[in-house]
Amino acid sequence: MKGIILAGGSGTRLHPLTLAVSKQLLPVYDTPMVYHPLSVLMLAGIRDVLLISTPHDLPGFQRLLGDGTRYGMNITYAEQAEPNGLAEAFVIGADHVGDDTSALVLGDNLFHGSNFSDLLHECIGGIGPDADGCVLFGYPVRDPENYGVGEADEHGRLISLEEKPAQPRSNRAITGLYFYDDRVCEIAKDLKPSDRGELEITDVNRVYLEQGRARLVDLGRGFAWLDTGTHDALLGAGQYMQVLEHRQGIRVACLEEVALRMGYIDADACYALGAQLAKSAYGKYVMDVATSLGAVPNGGR
Ligand code: TTP
Repeated sequence: MKGIILAGGSGTRLHPLTLAVSKQLLPVYDTPMVYHPLSVLMLAGIRDVLLISTPHDLPGFQRLLGDGTRYGMNITYAEQAEPNGLAEAFVIGADHVGDDTSALVLGDNLFHGSNFSDLLHECIGGIGPDADGCVLFGYPVRDPENYGVGEADEHGRLISLEEKPAQPRSNRAITGLYFYDDRVCEIAKDLKPSDRGELEITDVNRVYLEQGRARLVDLGRGFAWLDTGTHDALLGAGQYMQVLEHRQGIRVACLEEVALRMGYIDADACYALGAQLAKSAYGKYVMDVATSLGAVPNGGR
């Protein structure tokens, strides 16, 4: 399975923060926002990732993440010239996906919940030509009228999809994480722009819905799905991460830790990555995690 992070857009609701800096490079407490969607793909077992952003912002992501080798990943980059919609990810990313299955995650979506990795693996297992064609993740929200909203039958099959409905049929907002079978690029290629001139991911999902091949997985109240689109939401997400760190001593979306726990790098390599950041609490955390999982600092000398 191939991964795509869509990290372009204009970030107008965060002006003036995003006039000079990409939204997805802004801090969420102690990590750049894009660590979150990248860690989701890593937890799903995906190691081949295309990051799409604006021509102006792409170099910042490249400086931050490089080619991904240090995390045991392969990260490549592509430009989205204009914010022409989420589904354009599969036009730009068609060569990257090839005839593989794929996962798309929006660069400003944050997820946190126990056993997330297991859930992701379970969902990926059900995707394919003979199984479900796509998996969407629904999250209960107070204000579904502000989101794409999905409704599922008792078997978890998606039965309706509405974009910002005045009278929502459920309170399940569709989150920014999507799994697709090998047909998604073909579907995206044939899309027509919507009234607002964008290639809508909802239109892609509707094709799967009409085929009866879309699943809606409920993330439920044990999960946090955080948005970072406004100043308050961004600050709230940072505070959520800070509380977890202060209270439990854990960090969410620590790429070095995820890479180690997933077996993409070994404990000594993880320790060395932490040592490069040793003046920060983040770097010390990485070194501690690596040591607790078997790293031998300085080869035991
Ligand atoms: P949005 O939050 O819908 O848009 P935005 O990030 O441009 O922000 P604003 O509404 O404040 O102007 O986008 C959701 C995510 O998708 C976000 O990570 C940006 C990304 N995106 C793209 O990369 N390309 C696009 O064409 C669009 C529409 C969004």
